[in-house]
Amino acid sequence: MIDVLRASTTICHALDSGAVGIVPCRTIDAARHEALERKGQDVLLGGERKGVRIDGFDLGNSPADYTPESIHGKTIIFTTTNGTIAIDRAKHAADIVIGAFNNVTAVADDLANSKKVALLCAGTEGKISGEDVAAAGAITAHLLRKSEKTSQRTARLQNSVQLNDEARIARAWYGKVTSILSILRESRGGQRLRQLGYDQDIEIAAQMDSLDIVPRLDHATQFITLCSRPE
Ligand code: MLT
Repeated sequence: MIDVLRASTTICHALDSGAVGIVPCRTIDAARHEALERKGQDVLLGGERKGVRIDGFDLGNSPADYTPESIHGKTIIFTTTNGTIAIDRAKHAADIVIGAFNNVTAVADDLANSKKVALLCAGTEGKISGEDVAAAGAITAHLLRKSEKTSQRTARLQNSVQLNDEARIARAWYGKVTSILSILRESRGGQRLRQLGYDQDIEIAAQMDSLDIVPRLDHATQFITLCSRPE
């Protein structure tokens, strides 16, 4: 699941800062309920609606707020407008990982041995968003490069990665990107974040491969953690 601005990016930063896990919730009520169920545990409520922190929540959806000082050792109950809904929609997938520009290479390396990969772009309220498709294209390009190298080593003539039209479009769009920061700023979500004064979040989200981590949903616990691939 890819939601560059900002759910995926924030999840990556939260785990990198030492959060124990993220519990994605579809709705604000579900998040509040989850927090009540876990009363007494070290939990924080995080997320946004219309881009801003939800009333009564501890944290919004700015990656910069998820620092070791504020969240190390805590479980984050998390709900956002598009990202956590996309995670819920993917719930029947055998394995769900979270991708952003910050962890393109780590995610692509992790996915390289999968038989079938679906790159789910969260978009913005049902509409395609350029930054998510570009990140999907970056992951696709990395998977292709990796596969080409393997093919050369094993002298196979056929490239083993097969793309559908959507993946070809994403790759072509990413190929046209000269500045990740510019496409993030120009995108629908980016413009709204700038109006809200969150330009710093866009700058963080634009940093390619700043983190070498792969957040993964553990189906059994419904926690997103840095756990390794299921066998
Ligand atoms: C979302 O999940 O809808 C986004 O992360 C919204 C945002 O905070 O920019």
